[in-house]
Amino acid sequence: MSQNNGHASQSSDGFIVVDGNELSFREGETVLQAAQRAGIEIPTLCYDERLTPAGACRMCLVEVEGSRLMQPSCAYKASPGLVVRTQTPRVERNRQFILSLHLADNVQDRDEAEDNNPSRLHALAEDYGTLGAWPRVERQRQERPEDTNPFIEFRADRCIACSLCTRYCDQVEAVSAITLAGRGAHTTISTADRLSLTDTTCELCGGCIDVCPTGAMTEKQALAYGKPERELEKVRTTCNFCGVGCQLDLNVDRQANRVVKVTSPPPGTTVNDGNLCVKGRFANDFVHHEERLTDPLIRGEDGQLHPATWDEALDRVVQGLQGVAERHGDDALAFISSSRCTGEENYLFQKMARAAFRTQNVHQCAAT
Ligand code: SF4
Ligand code: SF4
Ligand code: FES
Repeated sequence: MSQNNGHASQSSDGFIVVDGNELSFREGETVLQAAQRAGIEIPTLCYDERLTPAGACRMCLVEVEGSRLMQPSCAYKASPGLVVRTQTPRVERNRQFILSLHLADNVQDRDEAEDNNPSRLHALAEDYGTLGAWPRVERQRQERPEDTNPFIEFRADRCIACSLCTRYCDQVEAVSAITLAGRGAHTTISTADRLSLTDTTCELCGGCIDVCPTGAMTEKQALAYGKPERELEKVRTTCNFCGVGCQLDLNVDRQANRVVKVTSPPPGTTVNDGNLCVKGRFANDFVHHEERLTDPLIRGEDGQLHPATWDEALDRVVQGLQGVAERHGDDALAFISSSRCTGEENYLFQKMARAAFRTQNVHQCAAT
């Protein structure tokens, strides 16, 4: 069967044939990228569209006509006339074998492996029927000294040295706080002088956790929570720390009504392209803090704060503002709104200042 997958009208630098389908490609594209655009699925572990391919995990190997060896489709450039097969018995056998090697290098017990972080590696192993069928080998990756940073745990026994975390740290964050260290089976993730992340240039963005396909990089907060009895539900929301509007996923244990951790939506799906900063990802303790305010408080004549209704609190605010305007004039008031508000809320806020309190003293904390 031949098809042009709907891209023939776009600028194209030629065609390749993948599993009998003729696919267009653009200059610099890899076989994997051309196949993904056409909806042909090739499993990957170390590929991320934001990063330079490393060809490290070998999950994406495909047969290329004229080549004796299979080739990593994530790093193999498309060229005119290339003929590729992604689903032959040889390719399937190879995927099972590669998965069993990664699993041998990973934890040996599935329950232990999953905790609250079912990984892409284990999902693929399940798809290819290799879970529980991998050889037992002695783990050799070096552990790092206890890292005292408050948020990120590195577990060497889960690492497959795919380098996604180090490439992300270099190429997206431009921080280079972590690196691959050691050789062969001893390869591990380390920092300069094996320092704690908080003593390096690390910004604790947690991006290395999001890209890690095995759960080797993971959230300390979620580890402390333990393995929930139920699958965590992802609730998409907007970060409330600044005006950028990053989207994030609260991973919620519904029955316990707890936020267990925060993850970023996949790259390419939201404004933040799979990235978060330390606040969006980790600063969520306040959600369940026992001292969190859930009702307004009004200071009474005794000088103490007392719980009040929202109507009482708003009445008090209006009285205060009107009192200042009456005593000192409208321009004695100033209104400063928050970048955490929506555009509509900010519009209403300036309207209230200008129309109800007759002042042009309006500002917003994100304005320059
Ligand atoms: S948290 Fe961010 S800055 Fe720190 S090591 Fe991970 S990716 Fe790099
Ligand atoms: S920690 Fe995760 S992302 Fe980093 S090299 Fe190991 S498996 Fe890959
Ligand atoms: S995804 Fe291609 S080698 Fe890992």
